[in-house]
Amino acid sequence: MQLNFDAVRSAAQTVPEWAVMYWPGPVGRRLRRAYWGKRLGAMGSGCVIDVGVVIQSPEHVFLGDNVWVDNYVQLIAGVPPRHPRITVKENPAYRGRPGELHIGSNTHIAPFCVLQGRGGLSIGSDSGVAAHAMLYSLSNHYRDGKDAGSGEDYDQVIKFSPMVPLEKQALISAPVVTENATAVGLGAILLPGSIVRQYSWVGSGAVVMGEIPGGVIAGGNPARVLKSRFGGAPPHD
Ligand SMILES: CC(C)(COP(=O)(O)OP(=O)(O)OC[C@H]1O[C@@H](n2cnc3c(N)ncnc32)[C@H](O)[C@@H]1OP(=O)(O)O)[C@@H](O)C(=O)NCCC(=O)NCCS
Repeated sequence: MQLNFDAVRSAAQTVPEWAVMYWPGPVGRRLRRAYWGKRLGAMGSGCVIDVGVVIQSPEHVFLGDNVWVDNYVQLIAGVPPRHPRITVKENPAYRGRPGELHIGSNTHIAPFCVLQGRGGLSIGSDSGVAAHAMLYSLSNHYRDGKDAGSGEDYDQVIKFSPMVPLEKQALISAPVVTENATAVGLGAILLPGSIVRQYSWVGSGAVVMGEIPGGVIAGGNPARVLKSRFGGAPPHD
């Protein structure tokens, strides 16, 4: 049997990760802080990485001070491999690089959130992302920007499954940004290219596409401005 040294090395790297991942209580938090502090792109002081958190491509993850990544959160970063049918869109609010995941200081990411930063993701300071929210900067799509494939020919139609060959899938990639002092409600979804401007709250279960202006309460699918947060007429969305 031939030994695959890369596979052995990557398995060996994950052993300490498993060892600290589910360790309960303050000792577990201390161990995870020490472990992830060495592996993340940056981790400020006072950060908490809780039980069951999974971090992919940690060198592309940047945490400010006092960030709390709660139980079973998934942080996914890293530039995706070259793809023959990817549509890449700019997001003028995003200041990082593709594949990076930034979380500002004093921000809480609640249990079971999935933060997918492969197209670039930035969450502001003093903010909260409630449980089960999903922020996706890279997503499968039914077309590649050029065509949707012929509906007549099964073989030509773009498929959703990662198990089909790459040229039969299409992806869309665009950074996602939530600015400072924002909130993303329980189970909300932010699709590629979304922006939530400063002070705004996105209600539970919202599906955000495009931009939510600053200082508003937004909700629904697709998410719309429900009202101004600070009184007065809501700004146009
Ligand atoms: C969006 C939210 C902040 C609005 O709170 P609120 O201002 O007290 O809401 P109101 O009851 O005054 O509702 C205002 C309008 O928004 C609508 N609305 C409220 N929440 C909504 C939501 N999540 N999605 C869509 N519409 C919503 C109401 O139906 C109402 O519409 P109407 O004026 O046509 O009747 C709140 O409903 C919410 O979703 N909070 C997030 C909770 C959460 O995720 N917490 C995290 C756990 S700590």
